[in-house]
Amino acid sequence: MFQAESVDRLIADELQAHFACATIGRQIIVLEQTGSTNDAILQVATGNTKEGLVLFAEHQTAGRGQRGNRWESAAGKGLWFSILLRPEIHISESGRLTVWAIEAISDVIRTEFSIEPTIKLPNDVQVHGRKVAGVLVETRAQEKAPHLAIVGIGINLNQSGEDFPLELHDKAVSLAMALGRQVDRPRFAVALLQNLDRIYREKFVTRATRLPS
Ligand code: BTN
Repeated sequence: MFQAESVDRLIADELQAHFACATIGRQIIVLEQTGSTNDAILQVATGNTKEGLVLFAEHQTAGRGQRGNRWESAAGKGLWFSILLRPEIHISESGRLTVWAIEAISDVIRTEFSIEPTIKLPNDVQVHGRKVAGVLVETRAQEKAPHLAIVGIGINLNQSGEDFPLELHDKAVSLAMALGRQVDRPRFAVALLQNLDRIYREKFVTRATRLPS
């Protein structure tokens, strides 16, 4: 049991080794606990922080969902993280980032597990009619600089039914519940960040600002 838990931990250096030439994942931070990763990433970012910083927390004590909802973030059971971006789109088009993120999540669930997820706009990914992942994009206008977008992503991976509060029992599901087996969280994190990075560079980065390959 102890070994399984330690193998499953998110370790920043091990994750980052997969993203040497990437935009998203070029810098990765893993916190043991925070209120909301969407707030924590703004606290660590400075004016010089490049886009693509990713901040995970093993546990969120005040995870936020859409419309002021609370987001349940059981310790070590899912992926709770935020990405800092400076996208080359107008701030009013931020909905495109939500679509990009939910499509990337949905793709990875389909390719890694042969499950057919459903996208429920504006921000849900569902499996068997229950929510497995959600995206919360928040923006900050900047003076004389591209605006900041914080893309917060929550994915239910290894919870069992009891890990969800009673009111979510018929609304939420984890991939482990859908598959009948545990999911390798670091592996899923790498596959998802790689997919997010690839599509982000295609859709949101112009040639002028693209990293040399
Ligand atoms: C929703 O479906 O309502 C959006 C849920 C978004 C949850 C994630 S978990 C990581 C990040 N930090 C937060 O406080 N919320 C997002």
